[in-house]
Amino acid sequence: MRFTFVTLFPQLIEGYFSASILGRAIEEEKLSIDFRNPREYTKDKFNRVDAPMIGGGAGMLMTPQPLMDTLDTLKATSPDAHIIFLTPVAKRFTQNDAKRLAKKSHIVLVSGRYEGIDERVIEAQADEVFSIGDYILTGGELASMVLCDAISRNVEGVLGNSESLQVESFEAPLLEAPSFTKPTVYEENAVVSEFLKGNHSKITDLKRGLALCKTKYFRPDLYKKGITDEK
Ligand code: ADE
Repeated sequence: MRFTFVTLFPQLIEGYFSASILGRAIEEEKLSIDFRNPREYTKDKFNRVDAPMIGGGAGMLMTPQPLMDTLDTLKATSPDAHIIFLTPVAKRFTQNDAKRLAKKSHIVLVSGRYEGIDERVIEAQADEVFSIGDYILTGGELASMVLCDAISRNVEGVLGNSESLQVESFEAPLLEAPSFTKPTVYEENAVVSEFLKGNHSKITDLKRGLALCKTKYFRPDLYKKGITDEK
């Protein structure tokens, strides 16, 4: 699967893919990553890619021409490219989106900077628009990395152990149960003894109970949804 990051600051993103599971997936050619910088497409004689907002308002916006030309050039060589803009003015990205988008062959993630992007570019080019949460970042780069990471780990072969996808938080509408590793007692604090006895159906029941408790405490909205969906 291919990801293209459209950003004025590729250096903010590059490092993330040099190590880690995603780095290995790139080496194994399960994923490929490339960058397009709209500044390289600007026709402005001073190389500008931003301008003040029309009608007032603080700050600068990314102008249409450099971004439009960047995306048109990309689409000319990759007609299946699925173009996603990252902005706080959008629906929230979820695990279901990550799973659905993992089936695409080429995803283009467009990051805004300054106060955002001229709306006409989004209208003309976006297949989808996502926010990663109800807060404002200084640019879309972090958000585009969040999407790339969450989508990639649902691509066949990216995670070593495909089972680790099955039982994670949000696969069921519950948060994941707590997990433990060695030692079984740490500073007088012991792992729940049922976990050590090897009775898998008991452990599953126990984990479900713990998952329900965590969800009810941290995410009452998900808890309510889980109970309703099960009826
Ligand atoms: N750009 C700035 N804030 C953002 C957010 N919360 N989600 C996606 N893109 C953004």
